[in-house]
Amino acid sequence: MSEASPFVPPQHLSAWPLLETHAQQLSPKPLAALFDNDPDRANRLTLIFENPTELDQTALIADFSKQKLNDEILASLIHLAREARLDEGIDRLFNGAPVNFTENRAASHMAMRGGCPPPPGIGADTRAMRTFAFDLREGMFTGSTGKTIRHLINLGIGGSDLGPRLAVEALADPRGGIVCGIEPMRIDFVSNVDPRDLDSVLVHADAASTLFVVSSKSFSTPETLANAKAARQWLLEQLGEDADISAHFAAVSNAIESAVTFGIKPERVFPLPEWVGGRYSVWSSIGLPLLAAIGGTFDDFLVGGRIIDDHFRLTPFEQNLPVWMGLIGLWNTNFLGIQSTAALPYAHGLRSFPAWLQQLEMESNGKHTLRNGNRTEAATAPIVWGSAGTNGQHAFHQLLYQGTRQVALDFIIPIGEEGDPRQRILVDNAIAQAAALMMGRDINAARDTLARRGLPDAEVERLAPHLVCQGGQPSTTLMLPRLDAFHLGILLALYEHKVFVQGWIWGINPFDQYGVEHGKDIARALASGEVAGQDPSTAQLARLAEEFRLRMR
Ligand code: F6P
Repeated sequence: MSEASPFVPPQHLSAWPLLETHAQQLSPKPLAALFDNDPDRANRLTLIFENPTELDQTALIADFSKQKLNDEILASLIHLAREARLDEGIDRLFNGAPVNFTENRAASHMAMRGGCPPPPGIGADTRAMRTFAFDLREGMFTGSTGKTIRHLINLGIGGSDLGPRLAVEALADPRGGIVCGIEPMRIDFVSNVDPRDLDSVLVHADAASTLFVVSSKSFSTPETLANAKAARQWLLEQLGEDADISAHFAAVSNAIESAVTFGIKPERVFPLPEWVGGRYSVWSSIGLPLLAAIGGTFDDFLVGGRIIDDHFRLTPFEQNLPVWMGLIGLWNTNFLGIQSTAALPYAHGLRSFPAWLQQLEMESNGKHTLRNGNRTEAATAPIVWGSAGTNGQHAFHQLLYQGTRQVALDFIIPIGEEGDPRQRILVDNAIAQAAALMMGRDINAARDTLARRGLPDAEVERLAPHLVCQGGQPSTTLMLPRLDAFHLGILLALYEHKVFVQGWIWGINPFDQYGVEHGKDIARALASGEVAGQDPSTAQLARLAEEFRLRMR
């Protein structure tokens, strides 16, 4: 593959100043006013993604009409993408070029779902892991006492936790009962090195039927290794010093030797290719717990991801979902100065989606060094946060209504089956929140509300300013028919590619994480008692922590 074209910072492209002008012209207008005299706006700014594997089946609807932009701005954003040679970026991504340019590697996680060929030399073969997960699911493994393994505890952190945790929460049937005489697999995730995390799972665990999956691409992440050692110790205490505890371990890792040295049988160590980054790894062997939970339905998850790969690769920018998502995010960040994005999934199954997205966006694009080594002049990844609705409505939505900040919102709404009235309440709330946060309530509406309560005029005047909601919070609504493996695959792949679009245009590398490494170095130094060389505050904190420990002995 040829070299990438020389990098031009986005501010030096002709579309950038044009977009700055657009932003200035647009800023005095209320967001809701963009619908005035434009009855077709909602329709025009909505992309409908038809399921290519099933005729006449809509897989996802993405309504961008509550974003603060118009057709001209969208056209300028698309022009920016063209000037930034996003097409070349997509080509390089899918053709295995070293888009991870600092580590000189491809980022071919799409190969795990058949969305691109694997880079030459290393296959995307997960057969051994799949056979293991299926056998596990079907009760074919026993622990050291001969009892069938029915509890899987995943020990991992970051990408080795968030993706599979989210997918298992979204897809495993919480009501799963006994099938063909086999109890359903219980699956737990432990990520925090705080002993309480593992302890709270172990307290309900039966060692004889438990399997720990040490999930660590590097097999060197201190938190995961510390938890793995604690798990090993617990097994020995529970099952006896002579028990064959290797029957209670498997690993997902590239560091096969380290895993074997830890005590895991080599045939139970499942690697993932180096070109699959941690936060993009749920599609790979890291998805083992998901396979154990949902079995063959895992393939629907891969298909969902794959059809988004095809869509992203082949669809003109004017209709391309991840391209719109990336560009609109960039518009909010760089031109409207909105610094934070809230992910608001209205589905309990997606309660870990904000945390997954946080890692995806912030670890990928939370960077300032450009491809040419210079510092960026443009803001990069926003601060990502959020939680599942409707819970957030009773916590942080107040700030969205009446605070002083603008936040870009992503509503994610799986419609779900009819039947239980609560599902309908959930969906109606999501749609209503997007509307209310855009429309707001002006002083006259506030007065009307109070007057309708029968308050005296003076009281109406006194209270009315406190009821004013400024509105104008921009949002995107992604609506899916249901939350199943296929649609989850679509959702996750959409965001992965959104992040790529932004990283490419900003000119940063979404696939490394040197910042995280820096924090780890200091933790390592402190763990070895090395306080010298730290700043006075840090040295003092380390000393005081030691004093607390001594006093509590
Ligand atoms: O937090 C940094 C990080 O390297 C993530 O990118 C990664 O997902 C996580 O640590 C876990 O890494 P590993 O799978 O090697 O334990």
